[in-house]
Amino acid sequence: MAFSYCNKELYCEGVPISKIAQEIGTPFYLYSYEELMKGVKKYKEALTEIKGIICYAVKANSNLAILRAIFREEAGADIVSGGELFRALRAGVDPKRVVFAGVGKTEKEMEYALRVGILMFNVESEEELEVLNHVAKKLNKKAPIAIRVNPDVDPETHPYISTGLKESKFGIDIRESPKVYKKAKQMENIEVLGVHCHIGSQITKISPFIDAAKRVFELIDNLNNENISIKYFDIGGGIGITYKDENPPKPSELVEAIKEDIKKRNLTLIMEPGRSIVGNAGIFVTKILYTKKKDKKTFYIVDGAMNDLARPALYGAYHEIKPINLKEEHITIKADVVGPICETGDFLAKERGLPIMEKGELLAIMSAGAYGFTMASNYNSRPKVPEVLVKDKEWFLIRERETYEDLVRGERIPEFLLE
Ligand code: LLP
Repeated sequence: MAFSYCNKELYCEGVPISKIAQEIGTPFYLYSYEELMKGVKKYKEALTEIKGIICYAVKANSNLAILRAIFREEAGADIVSGGELFRALRAGVDPKRVVFAGVGKTEKEMEYALRVGILMFNVESEEELEVLNHVAKKLNKKAPIAIRVNPDVDPETHPYISTGLKESKFGIDIRESPKVYKKAKQMENIEVLGVHCHIGSQITKISPFIDAAKRVFELIDNLNNENISIKYFDIGGGIGITYKDENPPKPSELVEAIKEDIKKRNLTLIMEPGRSIVGNAGIFVTKILYTKKKDKKTFYIVDGAMNDLARPALYGAYHEIKPINLKEEHITIKADVVGPICETGDFLAKERGLPIMEKGELLAIMSAGAYGFTMASNYNSRPKVPEVLVKDKEWFLIRERETYEDLVRGERIPEFLLE
């Protein structure tokens, strides 16, 4: 395990975490290179028997160093904005391994992606298709596309991260999609390459993926009969991780279940994992500023907050919390771990069993590698925290802590207010 105790002290690989805290202060995000590579390897191994491409979902963690480490393993990227494309290119992605999803792509973003020559656009509506055709024509190019279909399966996850249901804003109803494919085929500046679906995130069962895949295979056969040949099946991301006691499927189990269908149709399988690559490769380290008792309640007020790690506040998500230094005694109490932000929703954990701790002690918020830093904001004018990557016995600052000057960068006071 990349994060484990040695002499009652939590380490990331070969580095005591408290040592990093001493040097750069708290709070900060901390990632293990070894664990990150394990995440990529799971997918690489799953894809050995069939043609496949890993398109890492940049939104999960978009630090340049993390991206670089993943792209070095021959993975590509699943992007949802021009900004993510910029980051991915900066980190050395092969544009031919980039897929571009999202319900609201702008013309400017389309142009950018067409110029660099990405693998394909995952188109989410008919209007988007028309605009893409138009933008490609302007550039005298053909835009390679898949249509994101909505297979209407319930991934049984948090409603905010379910995306494959009929009523969601994503994709095109799978039953309506043949019509759109036919239209796309007629378009001069569109090249139909694939079918895309993504049913949700933090999915801990294999059955929703298989149900969705079955519907997609049926669609692909129908399209082939209509002379619309499909080369890529992009199954999206969504495989969950263990936050507490979940037992998510392995990528290899999923591939095993669909590989014959893939081979039979001579398809290339694209997978877009985010969380299952980086989620458990990262933690968030925070310090107790104060402890406080109110009636029967104990609060550990820490220097990290909902602006740094939004998941608990936003989804009521559970993240395991571990003291960086273990105590001799084993008494646990129930405490709320809360941040300094002026909102009651600003908590990292509620009624959590933790040792009796004092101000100055450090806590590790586990499983914070995905949708941690990328969802951080500057709310309450809190500078964004640094990110650190550990490899063996060495650690590297991969993003500096923001300064107060960074907070006001780009802001201007109009002349009339200066009088
Ligand atoms: N592909 C598409 C088209 C997506 O929309 C997503 C995630 C992924 C791939 C990657 O899914 P993953 O493998 O990471 O499950 N902020 C939420 C998660 C939002 C996921 C959005 N889409 C959270 O913190 O749980």
